[in-house]
Amino acid sequence: MSRIAYVNGRYVPFAQACVHIEDRGYQLGDGVYEVCEIRDGAFVDERRHLERLARSLAALRISEPMPFASLRHVLRETARRNRVTDGLLYLQITRGVARRDHGFPDKPVKPSLVVTVRALDRKKIEASAMAGISVISVPDDRWGRVDIKTIGLLPNVLARQAAKDAGAKDAWLVDEDGFVTEGASSNAWLVTKEGVLLTRPSSNRILTGITMTVIKEVAASLQIRVEERAFTVAEAKAAAEAFLSSATQTVMPVVAIDGSPVGSGKPGPVTMRLREAFHRRAEIGLRII
Ligand code: PDD
Repeated sequence: MSRIAYVNGRYVPFAQACVHIEDRGYQLGDGVYEVCEIRDGAFVDERRHLERLARSLAALRISEPMPFASLRHVLRETARRNRVTDGLLYLQITRGVARRDHGFPDKPVKPSLVVTVRALDRKKIEASAMAGISVISVPDDRWGRVDIKTIGLLPNVLARQAAKDAGAKDAWLVDEDGFVTEGASSNAWLVTKEGVLLTRPSSNRILTGITMTVIKEVAASLQIRVEERAFTVAEAKAAAEAFLSSATQTVMPVVAIDGSPVGSGKPGPVTMRLREAFHRRAEIGLRII
């Protein structure tokens, strides 16, 4: 089954999918994106992802490439044509194609829209979750508006690579005061020795994850107390449990930070309860495939 991508109005074979060299996303990182989980042939939390997409577009004054009802159709059609029942949907919108100039094009251009779908190996992710992952801490040197989901991800790329180079799976970013902001592509969480969930409150220093929002609801339903405050790396190392959250990994146990084991050094019970309960709380759409 060959992969199909949606690019600016057409469904094209993956190998032939391309955008113009003067696309502002390609040249300037002038665009936004979303990643949504596909599970058992349905989108997970599509509504919330599209709401965040609308916010990101508005923040950068990029117009919608098409009405959201049509966009939802394109997302479905791309997933359907790829026959992906477990995987992720990637959608990217840039300001469009224009002669290279830092300011917005004088005459508005049509935003570019690309949608791809990729299968994920759920067994592999489950195995990872059973073992837990290790992270390293690195300075957060991103710009001041990481609450917008832009495609400009170079610091995140370098952080992830630093983790790989250090033999870890991921990186947690640390602000100038020593507090963890979030992961390279995820939100960061602790469970204290008292069983309280800790995560950084929404601000322009983190991307408010859709998974994070749902986890707060899951925690409330399980009567687990959530405290929204920043925590340091030292606090993380001394915590009972740690985990990260994202659409692709949902709740992923973190068992070591900078080489120090967290808690027992194994995935913790609160983390695993949240992981297990997550999809009962998330909004699962109608089956597409
Ligand atoms: N990343 N913080 C950052 C910096 C992220 O890139 C992401 C998601 C999150 C979690 O958001 P959500 O729960 O809505 O996925 C937090 C996606 C998965 C990515 O870039 O691939």
